[in-house]
Amino acid sequence: MSEFLILDNVSYSYPGSEKSGVCQVNLALKQGEFLGVLGANGSGKSTLARLCCGLIAPTKGRVVVDGHTTEVEENLPYIHQQIGLVFQHPDNQFVASTVETEVAFGLENQALSSMEIRSGVDEALACFYLSGLCKVQPHLLSGGEKRLLSLAGIWNLKPKLLIVDEPLSMLDPGARKSIHMLLQELREAGQTIMWITHNMEEVMMADRVMVMAGGKMVWIGPPGELLKIPEQAKDWGVTLPLVFQLGMELGLTGFYPTTEDELVSEIWKLI
Ligand SMILES: Nc1ncnc2c1ncn2[C@@H]1O[C@H](COP(=O)(O)OP(=O)(O)O)[C@@H](O)[C@H]1O
Ligand SMILES: [Mg+2]
Repeated sequence: MSEFLILDNVSYSYPGSEKSGVCQVNLALKQGEFLGVLGANGSGKSTLARLCCGLIAPTKGRVVVDGHTTEVEENLPYIHQQIGLVFQHPDNQFVASTVETEVAFGLENQALSSMEIRSGVDEALACFYLSGLCKVQPHLLSGGEKRLLSLAGIWNLKPKLLIVDEPLSMLDPGARKSIHMLLQELREAGQTIMWITHNMEEVMMADRVMVMAGGKMVWIGPPGELLKIPEQAKDWGVTLPLVFQLGMELGLTGFYPTTEDELVSEIWKLI
């Protein structure tokens, strides 16, 4: 696996902002990798996403996407093709008047025939459970449907790296579950994913998780390793998986349940 995204001693401060270094990161991401990005509100996660896709350029250091640095303006069209960012608030992303034209929008900007666009749209609608809603106006959709639509529009463009910024926030439990499963399927199909969240439960299947705190990357490693320093993780603003927290409350020392089944079998041993 080759390194697809490199953040080399990157530091970013918003222009005019008194805070310095709201995003300081060193990172190399390989193709096919699933990276979870954890951290409290305001820790710099969304800024990191914008840096990765060249929406903002680092104040110091370099961001390199598939060998192309984001500082060079001529590289940006290529970079925007390689990285799909699904924003934290889906409404900010919609530009069209119906679900199907929204899904078609990105494809229409590529040199494709109308038949190719039609089949691309149909495939994305089916894959994201939106076929029955194709004529509906995007702003009338439920929170979960809006999230599906924003994912479908980006996925359609077949980005090499998919960045999802808090994809499960503000969704009901049913929608959370189906979107979680869908992203898991994309991952199993080889999609490189950067998943931003404060809730570690969402990224337990990640290859690695990195933690942002106070604008700095403070930790990176496999999720199981982060669970070995739970108090530190909580101090950084990470919400630990519910079953893990329950295990801690029950005093299960030296054993870290990460699934309901594991927790239940440990409880049986206690009684
Ligand atoms: N457009 C902006 N101008 C100035 N400061 C900003 C802007 N966007 C975010 N910030 C600040 O940068 C820091 C990191 O924000 P952000 O990356 O959105 O964090 P997160 O996504 O982890 O909640 C915060 O202190 C926030 O207030
Ligand atoms: Mg954010």
